Amino acid sequence: MASYDVIIIGGGPGGYVSAIRCAQLGLKTACVEGRETLGGTCLNIGCIPSKALLHASHMLHESQTNFVKMGLKGKSPSVDWPQMLSYKDDVVAQNTKGIEFLFKKNKIDRMKGWGSIPEPGKVQVADEVHEAGSIVIATGSESTSLPGVEIDEKIVVTSTGALALPKVPKKMVVIGAGVIGLELGSVYARLGSEVTVVEFLDAVTPGMDGEIAKTLQRTLKKQGLKFIMGAAVQSVETTKTKAKISYKLRKDDSEHQLDADVVLVATGRKPFTDGLGLAALGVETTPRGQIRTDTHWATNIPGLYAIGDAIEGPMLAHKAEDEGMAVAEVLAGKAGHVNYGVIPAVIYTSPEVASVGKTEEQLKDEGRAYKVGKFPFMGNARAKAMFAGEGFVKILANKETDRILGAHIIGPSAGELIHEICVGMEFGAAAQDIALTCHAHPTLSEAVREAALACGDGAIHA
Ligand code: FAD
Ligand code: NAI
Repeated sequence: MASYDVIIIGGGPGGYVSAIRCAQLGLKTACVEGRETLGGTCLNIGCIPSKALLHASHMLHESQTNFVKMGLKGKSPSVDWPQMLSYKDDVVAQNTKGIEFLFKKNKIDRMKGWGSIPEPGKVQVADEVHEAGSIVIATGSESTSLPGVEIDEKIVVTSTGALALPKVPKKMVVIGAGVIGLELGSVYARLGSEVTVVEFLDAVTPGMDGEIAKTLQRTLKKQGLKFIMGAAVQSVETTKTKAKISYKLRKDDSEHQLDADVVLVATGRKPFTDGLGLAALGVETTPRGQIRTDTHWATNIPGLYAIGDAIEGPMLAHKAEDEGMAVAEVLAGKAGHVNYGVIPAVIYTSPEVASVGKTEEQLKDEGRAYKVGKFPFMGNARAKAMFAGEGFVKILANKETDRILGAHIIGPSAGELIHEICVGMEFGAAAQDIALTCHAHPTLSEAVREAALACGDGAIHA
């Protein structure tokens, strides 16, 4: 039996970041991970492999659509799928090995195996029980499925199977027009699959600013993705090589069917807490199975904390990381704080989508007086040179004080551009603060400044 100040269960972005910060703050730290490699869902089967495939397929799309226009002629690239998968696996391995290195550097004990909590202050891994002053649960999440749909990870797959298909399918049906559905749907559409997205609601990416969601759907349609909206999937039947998807349209209850070689079920994720022994300990959970915590990530059991996808809030790697750092500070006797009002969200489609703060719909619901500053990328010289004039920046600011309340970007590098607004919001910036800041020319960031100018006396290039 070993004794630690902190034992963290789960080595994903929440757990591994927390372990590093705990060690940096002088706490004797161990991290238990059941997988062979560290990095959790994000590095192994989530953010990183999906972004590798998005990057590779985006390059292919660029070569097919824009190269000739720029005077780049010659044999256009074709897809070597096994090589693309091995590139993706290499990227994953480089990143997971990087975390191993960081654990050694910070003298964190990595325990291989599935952990459980037999009693407060104790963590069991295989036959060994270890003592911990504090325990942090960072066990993440897993895909959900639907009644009448059995996942086999071959024909009917979750994102995990979709990141490692043996070949590019001819026809793919994606159930759910959320983040996973649109990102991985984009990958396969660019690689030549006929992709149909079936969504229960009438808009894609629920919760996103309505104007952005509409623009995103329209752009993806132009790229060849088909959408069937307002449709409830009833069942998926499979033969050895094919699937038949039955759905009902909500507007008239009519029943329809689709064929596919692969069906991607992307209807959300749920906390993964199996095998921890939470019920026996009496840990409080929400009706959605999330571990209930207070504002300092403490559960109702003294010394037991939880972070990341396993608790409430957006299921995002950076939210888990921020909680990981903050809970480490709490355990080290410091303040520990996460500003949940300024957590950006990015969809890595092309164009990218990024948002932070309130949507226009939320401000309307709250009855807030707000103003909108918008600027299209068509007015940005750099974007035009990149054939990336589609989309816009939209800043929402308080009508009286000009304080930024939210920002929504669809366009090139939106996921990078959003952080200027995030920093501004952390400092309580007004739109005018962004507008008065000199931005280098020609950059995409000028579009953000122009949207800020549009909150005041007006944008220059629109
Ligand atoms: P996880 O990353 O799920 O890590 C939990 C770890 O705990 C796992 O490795 C698991 O094996 C381990 N574990 C569980 N139980 C035990 C146990 N009892 N004992 C030992 N170990 C255990 N988010 C973004 O912000 N950006 C993106 O681009 C993005 N892309 C994504 C793409 C896909 C396809 C998916 C599925 C998700 C994506 N996400 C993205 C979401 C992101 O992956 C999660 O929000 C993030 O990984 C949550 O971190 P976590 O540390 O809470 O949990
Ligand atoms: P999601 O919650 O984003 O979207 C699920 C979609 O499925 C919704 O549009 C929902 O209306 C729809 N749906 C639910 N039931 C349905 C049904 N029966 N028939 C048809 N449609 C149905 O979930 P998703 O895409 O699975 O992603 C899970 C999590 O992973 C998200 O919370 C997201 O935060 C995270 N993620 C983040 C990424 C990023 O930050 N870029 C990338 C990928 C995942």
